[in-house]
Amino acid sequence: MPSVLLVPFLVSACQGTGPPPAADVAAPSAPRDMHSFARPHEARVTHVALDLAADFEARVLSGQAVLTIAREPGATEVVLDTRDLLVDSVTDAQGQSLTFELGPEDALLGQPLTIALPDQVTEITVAYRTSPGAEALQWLAPAQTAGGAHPYLYSQGQAILTRTWIPTQDSPGIRQTYSARIVVPSGLRAVMSAEMLTPDGVAVGDALVFEFRLTTPVPPYLIALAAGDIAFREIGPRTGVFAEPSVLDAAAREFVDLERMVETAEALLGPYRWGRYDVLVLPPSFPFGGMENPRLTFATPTILAGDRSLVSLVAHELAHSWSGNLVTNATWRDFWLNEGVTSYVELRIMEALYGAERAAMLEVLERSALEDEIARLGGPDAPDTILHVDLTGRNPDDGMTLVPYAKGATLLRLMEQTVGRERFDAYLRSYFDRHAFASITTPAFLEDVRTNLTGGDATLAGALKLEEWVYEPGLPDNAPAVESPALAAVEAGARAFAGGSPAASLATADWSTQEWQHFLAALSGTLSPSQLADLDRTFGLTGRGNSEVLFAWLRIAVRHHYEPAMPTLERFLTSQGRRKFLRPLYEDLMATDWGPDEARRIYARARPLYHAVATTTLDPIVR
Ligand code: BES
Ligand code: ZN
Repeated sequence: MPSVLLVPFLVSACQGTGPPPAADVAAPSAPRDMHSFARPHEARVTHVALDLAADFEARVLSGQAVLTIAREPGATEVVLDTRDLLVDSVTDAQGQSLTFELGPEDALLGQPLTIALPDQVTEITVAYRTSPGAEALQWLAPAQTAGGAHPYLYSQGQAILTRTWIPTQDSPGIRQTYSARIVVPSGLRAVMSAEMLTPDGVAVGDALVFEFRLTTPVPPYLIALAAGDIAFREIGPRTGVFAEPSVLDAAAREFVDLERMVETAEALLGPYRWGRYDVLVLPPSFPFGGMENPRLTFATPTILAGDRSLVSLVAHELAHSWSGNLVTNATWRDFWLNEGVTSYVELRIMEALYGAERAAMLEVLERSALEDEIARLGGPDAPDTILHVDLTGRNPDDGMTLVPYAKGATLLRLMEQTVGRERFDAYLRSYFDRHAFASITTPAFLEDVRTNLTGGDATLAGALKLEEWVYEPGLPDNAPAVESPALAAVEAGARAFAGGSPAASLATADWSTQEWQHFLAALSGTLSPSQLADLDRTFGLTGRGNSEVLFAWLRIAVRHHYEPAMPTLERFLTSQGRRKFLRPLYEDLMATDWGPDEARRIYARARPLYHAVATTTLDPIVR
């Protein structure tokens, strides 16, 4: 997708790096979200009531959205975000038609839907249909599911895709409550990121109707829906897992610690404010590892390793119940406030639940990955290594690198180590209380730190170098060192093997998934064909079921054109659609002299299985 936009008013509205004052989104001084057409300081959506029917043959959701509008004095219209929506009518609460206009299409943002607001009107009904290509939605044929008998539908709203299935103000700074009535063919269950009022649905003719409501306001990217052959298993009093019936046992086993995880997070961050916490395991095409939809995290089945070794992903999504869902990045350039704080909290939850050594391994893995990422982005001066990243004219997806995650988490670790854990933990809890159910900009965050963490202590503030961390590229030199004795031993093993020791001489018997990941990542140089065969024969790497270990091995296999692993590579690329695994493997293939034909052949087979989020990334790579 071209990343240059030809919309002058959006470009001119871009903010500089100077700190604008913290402000409510309704205030004219609030930062403008360059990725939304909405003008919330005139009129803004406060509640969305959906009534939609899912047509799996046509791949269309159709029905209506009733929007509650808060209008400022003098407002004469409300502007919504839409993309690829077919709008049939717009009416007021009495059913009177309202004048509306769909503006010119922008390749990235879609079309503004401007609706005239006669005096007193505060409720509008938009009757509409989605298009079969709606980017937020993936409609799966039965063959693309685990059970193979029923179709499946799921949505992915973040960052700016909700507008492809709901006409609303699609900006992270505009919080809305929502309710929904969803009609699906009987035999399917619909679930949403909300309270489920009719868990088993209510039969109406040959359809099933499901009702939902979320009374805590959220940004629209968190409105989420899935429908399919979905079963439920309770884990604790307020936790459970949803999955296709044939996946349910494995999912319930993997997530046995879910209730304890919520308790651990609460002890660290304050009360969990969303009621239930459930995890939905999606079909394998889900393009992300996880998505923090409120009350119902969406997760890839590739974390079902069988040994709970990849549950840090759930800790991450759970942490977003505070950082992201409770306190939300005001615009997508503040994304690091969602992901950096969450990645830090993820490590703290993992440490509290499974011990310091496990957390240290995750932190070291993340730091090495960050170093690779900074190199990939162009080195320590590259603009995309800035936390407060410039997304002018770009897809917010371009900012979804490891930088907001790992550099952001490192800044929080530095803050913790600078003031001490006790003081930092108290600060973190108070931060979530102060900004609960609100959004926050980067400058407002820095102000909050100065006021409530470092106080008047100029020496402390100076030691942190906050401005450099947030507004300058690269990793500042006061980044805390990370270390894991276990991973240091693994590195020594990797060096010995690269230097000629046989694989069997390595003491791998007790290695965890994280140790295997680090070992394989550390074998970055050139290995001989016999070394590859030795590794594979000794450790059965091509036959590994753990997705992270297999992925790390397949990257080595591609770089060395290790033939015996190629059928497994093809199976891996055609059996799951997680972008984090797909992109590097296709990139690695395209970078070899033998790989591009293979990449194109496999991609042609696999592309229909992938979600649009993945194909949008991969289309320009596999050409
Ligand atoms: N919120 C993100 C996923 C996301 C980010 C979707 C930006 C769309 C746009 C989620 O919390 C996340 O970070 N998922 C990671 C896993 C995590 C353990 C790092 C992923 O999917 O890889
Ligand atoms: Zn996240």
